[in-house]
Amino acid sequence: MAYKIAVIPGDGIGPEVVREGVKCLEAVQKKHSLSLEFAWYDFGGDRFLKTGEVLPHSALEELRKFDAIYLGAVGHPEVAAGILEKGLLLGIRFGLDQYINLRPVKLYPGVWTPLKDKGPEHIDFIVVRENTEDLYVGTGGFAHYGTPEEVATQVAIYTRKGTERVMRYAFELARARNKDRKVTMVDKSNVLTFGHDLWVRTFAEVGKEYPDIKQDHAYVDACCMWMVKNPEWFDVIVTTNMFGDIITDLGAMIQGGMGIAASGNINPEGVSMFEPIHGSAPKYAGKNKANPLAAISAAQMMLGHLGEKAASDSLEQAIMKALASGKLGDLSASSGVSTSEVGDLVAALV
Ligand code: IPM
Ligand code: MN
Repeated sequence: MAYKIAVIPGDGIGPEVVREGVKCLEAVQKKHSLSLEFAWYDFGGDRFLKTGEVLPHSALEELRKFDAIYLGAVGHPEVAAGILEKGLLLGIRFGLDQYINLRPVKLYPGVWTPLKDKGPEHIDFIVVRENTEDLYVGTGGFAHYGTPEEVATQVAIYTRKGTERVMRYAFELARARNKDRKVTMVDKSNVLTFGHDLWVRTFAEVGKEYPDIKQDHAYVDACCMWMVKNPEWFDVIVTTNMFGDIITDLGAMIQGGMGIAASGNINPEGVSMFEPIHGSAPKYAGKNKANPLAAISAAQMMLGHLGEKAASDSLEQAIMKALASGKLGDLSASSGVSTSEVGDLVAALV
């Protein structure tokens, strides 16, 4: 099959990890006779500093025409925090209604985890993070800015529709994974008694449509504890945007670190975007040191999402072989293995 992929390398280490991801995709495309056509976009901090433009409106319309989007990282030391994050990353997530943020937490054999006595058989779950609501909508403001009387508000928004669709997605995913057939809903409904009450009621209602799937619940603080103590209890976690952001950094650490954690921003009815969970890590930019495995894994998720299961599986096998080879060190930027060496190894193993 032929696919059109928009590539946004972005800032910092984004371009170098994306380059390796594309290298691996090219190896896969030869093996599985796919035809991937890449269109490159220079959105990011440098372009913003030159032109004052983050994501032109026409770009969003253009991105809608692709089969998928492949993103590196967003964040530039000379651009104030929030401009690129909100304008570019959230601009695409919201603009293309990518309402699911899918974040697998899977420890591959041969990868070190800081959890004592836990191995790949214990760490294999997936977080379904709501991706278009909550504190991320950017509702709020200041009064009496900069004075001793200053008031700041930041409002979390939850809709019935948004809550329902992310939960339905999580239940369907638990069915498709067919692992423990369990969805754990993570919230803070003991304190957030309006917004998260909506989550509790919606979970119970949507859950009725899935009598074959177990329903479990954890408060977000306890969830952090269980992720460290008993990660094997989780199969599919469904949670809010803010909590999903936080617990998946913890998830990344137990699966081997930011060097390997990948994600997909999914619009099941539209265009989805795949990216590593890590940021732009400016201090490693251009040094050929950052581990590209997270970006390569994001490319692998993208192939799976496009319906190219064989191609996605063969890239995952190559990633697993590279990890099992013992050649990749600790997967950090100081592992002594360069960005391009990791990409070369995985591409060769494809
Ligand atoms: C992530 C990042 C983003 C988020 C930031 C950069 C806006 O932390 O993808 O997890 O909070 O979603
Ligand atoms: Mn994050």
